[in-house]
Amino acid sequence: MPQESKANPLLSLRGIRKSFGAVEVLRGVDLNVYSGKVTALVGDNGAGKSTLIKGIAGIYPFDGGDYVFEGESVQISDPRAANDLGIEVVYQDLALCDNLDVVHNMFLGREEKRGLILNEDDMERRARETLDGLSVRTLKSVRQQVSSLSGGQRQTVAIARAVLWNSKLVILDEPTAALGVAQTAQVLSLVRRLADAGLAVILISHNMVDVMEVADNIAALYLGQMAAQVEASDVSHGEVVELITAGRSGELGIQPKNGEGAA
Ligand SMILES: Nc1ncnc2c1ncn2[C@@H]1O[C@H](COP(=O)(O)OP(=O)(O)OP(=O)(O)O)[C@@H](O)[C@H]1O
Ligand SMILES: [Mg+2]
Repeated sequence: MPQESKANPLLSLRGIRKSFGAVEVLRGVDLNVYSGKVTALVGDNGAGKSTLIKGIAGIYPFDGGDYVFEGESVQISDPRAANDLGIEVVYQDLALCDNLDVVHNMFLGREEKRGLILNEDDMERRARETLDGLSVRTLKSVRQQVSSLSGGQRQTVAIARAVLWNSKLVILDEPTAALGVAQTAQVLSLVRRLADAGLAVILISHNMVDVMEVADNIAALYLGQMAAQVEASDVSHGEVVELITAGRSGELGIQPKNGEGAA
């Protein structure tokens, strides 16, 4: 059986449950996320991926189960509590402001003030340092309006914004879905650098090529259950696809109960 990493996880979820009305969307989900590693969260449409990350981020608190961060059991009942732990989410729709420049987007809602005045120089310096630290070289200027950026550059700004806040865990929901080949490569290499810099990264993706390229660890959700979480190097592309579409692949995944659904 493929072994999971022995290191202590940064985030460990156990038996997570979440219902919307009568519909049970997460049915006892376990997930481990490690610092310095990219954990791909995969699963078919409606499997519960977005619900799981919204719970991690405190947007829709879980109904039950254990949420353990840095070895401590925590209650995350709102997004602020998740931010305070160092958890940042980059949502697919990005929510950047077109009419503001890169610096103001990176500090949106958390602007630095000196008295009543925004501390422009300091914000610009920190924005530039963060982008440089991530080896982002595709932006001409941090004073460029976001409306003038390409899709990949926008994604880069959104990711850089997430790491500006002493983040420990950055969650990316489909960061390459709308991107072309070259821009996808740029964003994936940025994802890799985040992990290499010691952050834990959760990457939601439907693109198996991206997943196999950048993930260290793969967690496959199937109809609200964690079918399997495995080291990426221990599974083939085909096995991951089977986990996604059938919830199991050979010995891996959710096994049928006796007398039920013989393979
Ligand atoms: N706010 C909500 N109210 C009611 N049902 C919801 C809500 N959010 C999600 N669901 C249901 O929960 C299930 C899981 O949805 P979720 O968005 O987590 O799936 P997903 O794995 O992110 O899918 P996709 O790949 O399409 O983004 C779906 O059946 C969805 O209809
Ligand atoms: Mg989703």
